[in-house]
Amino acid sequence: MTDPRPTMRVLRGPLVRFLDDPGEDDRPAPGSLSYLRDGALWLENGRIRAVGHYHELAPHLPDGIEVVDYTGKLMMPGFIDSHVHYVQLDILASYGRQLLDWLNDYTFPEECRFAERAHSEAVAEAFLDEQLRVGTTTAQVFCSSHPQSVDAFFAAARRRGLRMLAGKVLMDRNAPAALTDSVASGVADSERLIADWHGKDRLGYSLTPRFAPTSSPAQLDATGAILRTAPDLHLQTHLAENPGEIAWVAELFPNAKDYLAVYERFGLVGPTSTFAHGVHLDQAMRERLAGAGANIAFCPTSNLFLGSGLLDRHACREAGLATSLASDVGAGTDLSGFATLKAAYQVGQLLGQPLTAWQGFYRLTLGNARALRLDHHIGSLEAGQEADIVVLDPGATPLLARRTARISKDDGNGKDEHADQATLGERLFALMMLGDDRCVFATWAGGDCVHQRDSSMTHNA
Ligand code: GUN
Ligand code: ZN
Repeated sequence: MTDPRPTMRVLRGPLVRFLDDPGEDDRPAPGSLSYLRDGALWLENGRIRAVGHYHELAPHLPDGIEVVDYTGKLMMPGFIDSHVHYVQLDILASYGRQLLDWLNDYTFPEECRFAERAHSEAVAEAFLDEQLRVGTTTAQVFCSSHPQSVDAFFAAARRRGLRMLAGKVLMDRNAPAALTDSVASGVADSERLIADWHGKDRLGYSLTPRFAPTSSPAQLDATGAILRTAPDLHLQTHLAENPGEIAWVAELFPNAKDYLAVYERFGLVGPTSTFAHGVHLDQAMRERLAGAGANIAFCPTSNLFLGSGLLDRHACREAGLATSLASDVGAGTDLSGFATLKAAYQVGQLLGQPLTAWQGFYRLTLGNARALRLDHHIGSLEAGQEADIVVLDPGATPLLARRTARISKDDGNGKDEHADQATLGERLFALMMLGDDRCVFATWAGGDCVHQRDSSMTHNA
């Protein structure tokens, strides 16, 4: 039951949000960032009614409205994870070798368990608890090939009022019999799930062929046909992650000129398509993806864990190809956006393209919202957007408190805009490198507080 009374609240405190891509330079592109030292988010019925300086909003607030004080913290739009497998939560950190061994040894046996609805429900709840604990309010999620795993996930996300994309894995060959569907059953299950969940509250359906080797041409073709039925359906799959996988695709699809051409042939490459990894693409493939408006989910902890390779983010940018940021748990080693940012920075360093904190936090928020075509709902906390907010604690650990205190000595105190921005950049970078789940003080979704960390953990250096 939804509460018929309007719910209004104000969250007050420092507020950072991106209005546009800040670019790759040390300083954010002009107009790309909004930072309010004493900001306010006025929430009403799950949305942002107004955003601004607290002192400007205060005269307009109704008497007696609840003001939640986050002074000393840092508010941002809730984090977004563009590619993650909820059904792999319990195989995180399973000794990996390379992709295909890891799939056979750990992933497929684990996903068999999701035939059971009760198991799916329990893992979906645990996964969402973890996501909210790390400040992630939206994700694009692989379920298993069992439709009941999707029902369990969507039901749990809906109960919590979350904006989520998810789908049933389509896989009709080259996998254990307990996990394979058929062209007909994959279509029937996907259509039933779309009818039951797509567009319900904040949920959206993502068609989910696992990757080219586990779908027959007929299944990929049928998936393309469903995708064409509605422009707001999403598609998620994997692409060019690992050399063994790429060689296998070339064997299975001898007439395709490259891996991407397999997906293109069946109409799977479009503006709502997310391709996880894309580590081993050439510039022509990047340009074709960009031309279609698709995005590559950059999964740095996963690429390091499975030794898949280093994503050339700058080559993607040069091709005009959007890169989103993703955890890819369970090959990824951490659900936290901080861990993803830290690994993305390290991967970038090895390629001579370090990630600035501006670019990193932009990607986790508005950048991912744009890549997933969800930026009319989430990502920048503009008036009218959905109220998904993460409240960060720069004093969450003794070390981070010391580091933040050192940075604060250079603070412009609001008097010098450049000094202020430089200080903010340093603080965000410290969070990106030293932050973890302890830094998430609170998470709000749809206007409600859905996670609150123990406040006694805050340290003052
Ligand atoms: N390629 C096909 N399936 C998977 C998966 O579950 N994880 C990763 N990282 N790559 C894949
Ligand atoms: Zn994946």
